[in-house]
Amino acid sequence: MNQSVIQAKNITLKYPNGNIALKDIGFECDKGEIVFIVGPSGSGKTSLLKLFMGIEQPSQGELSILGEKVHASNIQKIRQSIGPVFQEFRLLEGRTTLENVMMGMRFLNYNLKEMRDQSEKALVRVGLEHKIHSDVDHLSWGESQRVAIARAVARNPKLIIADEPTGNLDHANAINILELLTSFKDEETTVLITTHATHLIETRERHHLITMNQGQLLWEKKCYE
Ligand SMILES: Nc1ncnc2c1ncn2[C@@H]1O[C@H](COP(=O)(O)OP(=O)(O)O)[C@@H](O)[C@H]1O
Ligand SMILES: [Mg+2]
Repeated sequence: MNQSVIQAKNITLKYPNGNIALKDIGFECDKGEIVFIVGPSGSGKTSLLKLFMGIEQPSQGELSILGEKVHASNIQKIRQSIGPVFQEFRLLEGRTTLENVMMGMRFLNYNLKEMRDQSEKALVRVGLEHKIHSDVDHLSWGESQRVAIARAVARNPKLIIADEPTGNLDHANAINILELLTSFKDEETTVLITTHATHLIETRERHHLITMNQGQLLWEKKCYE
């Protein structure tokens, strides 16, 4: 059985304007891992995530997600198993937190009751049970981030992807948000997080660390035990 969640082979990404964001990247992530992708701003972290989510296609190389080779033809199917937490959250203004989380579950073959129940459960899990019916326009930055996380996990994804979730946070809140995100890891669920705050993860146990620099994979380490 293939336990590999992400398999990247010689991946290069060149944007239409000629920028080469990723150069010859290769690595493999297993099911149930916590994966951190670290590197300075501009090193290619977001570009790599865009490939995983099918927002961009590699210019060269081969990418498999959840055992499926990524193609334009199956990207919709692969996306169904991914829970994305975008850096800028992408919440729908003028809607409640619950509506936003339920919106993330469209096209996944859940009925309305299941969507509602799972969304409420996810909102409780991220500590927003008291804001379920609040308009997202009235939430703080940290609360909006938690809605974005709830929206990602309510989908029951096999792969949770969060881009720079610690970006604007002070140390204590950054640690809290990493704790929350990594708490969704289980045998079936892989959690992948990018950050430029290397110091936040140095003390963490059991994780897979991928370090990027200038579009290249600088080094990789699996810290287990
Ligand atoms: N849409 C785009 N078009 C052209 N160049 C881009 C685009 N997005 C990112 N880049 C470039 O690709 C490189 C990597 O960017 P990015 O993946 O955003 O890095 P990071 O997330 O690590 O800050 C940078 O040089 C950036 O300017
Ligand atoms: Mg980025």
